[in-house]
Amino acid sequence: METPSLFEAREVAADIFELPACMPVPGLGALSVNAYLIRGTEPVLVDTGLAALGERFVEELETLVDPDDLAWIWLSHMDADHVGNLTAVLRRAPKARVVTNFLGMGKMMLAGLPVERVHVMEPGASLQLPDREIVPLHPPYYDAPETIGFFDTTASVLFTADAFGALLEQPARGDAAAIPPARLRDGLVTWAGIDAPWLSLLEPASLERSLDDIRRLAPTVVLSSHLPAASGITEALLGYVSEMRSGGTPRMPNALTMERLLDRAHIGKEAAI
Ligand SMILES: [Fe+2]
Ligand SMILES: [Fe+2]
Repeated sequence: METPSLFEAREVAADIFELPACMPVPGLGALSVNAYLIRGTEPVLVDTGLAALGERFVEELETLVDPDDLAWIWLSHMDADHVGNLTAVLRRAPKARVVTNFLGMGKMMLAGLPVERVHVMEPGASLQLPDREIVPLHPPYYDAPETIGFFDTTASVLFTADAFGALLEQPARGDAAAIPPARLRDGLVTWAGIDAPWLSLLEPASLERSLDDIRRLAPTVVLSSHLPAASGITEALLGYVSEMRSGGTPRMPNALTMERLLDRAHIGKEAAI
């Protein structure tokens, strides 16, 4: 896989759909980059995927919801892999409002993204929809301070943005529970080492408190932006993060290896033309 792929959307909990995509990471494997759609009286799109997916992302979204009905676009944070198709979706979804916080809106302005339809989530507020409540929360680790995950109290589903992502050797399809545990743990440690290297600096007690908060919520499904939806393995995921705190060294190629890998990818592409 040399370019990002988009897979067919799938229902991962009642009325909650994953829009799964995967991005190659030269020398290391593949990383899921998922958006999610919560269907209901006021449908919510969670993140807008990779820009490289372009029209394909919007077309897949339209298999799940009429864009005229889309009410909310929840942006977990403003990294490029989460806001890639925001402008295109806003163009197609005239009633959709963007949910972020104060810093998120500031970053949108800096990036030249439209803020006219932003709904700023105040600290302590939640998104009250006619048929469900979406409560914002901080995931146990993240790579941008504006990050907001959430707990859907109706579906008992937790969205954790970048947390619990895993860099795997092959693109993962289906539920994360089907990934062999050792592979899942290694992928999770590798990704966290790259995306949140400061995790090892956290006081263990502080990390355990935030993991315990998740235990108390007892989500039936954990949705990460960078892992297929994970059903019934919450305790295992928490355990991997807890272990990782004591030190996991990411398998990152050095600069020379990376140059060679990119050269090889480039040569491969020319040969294919
Ligand atoms: Fe991120
Ligand atoms: Fe991300």
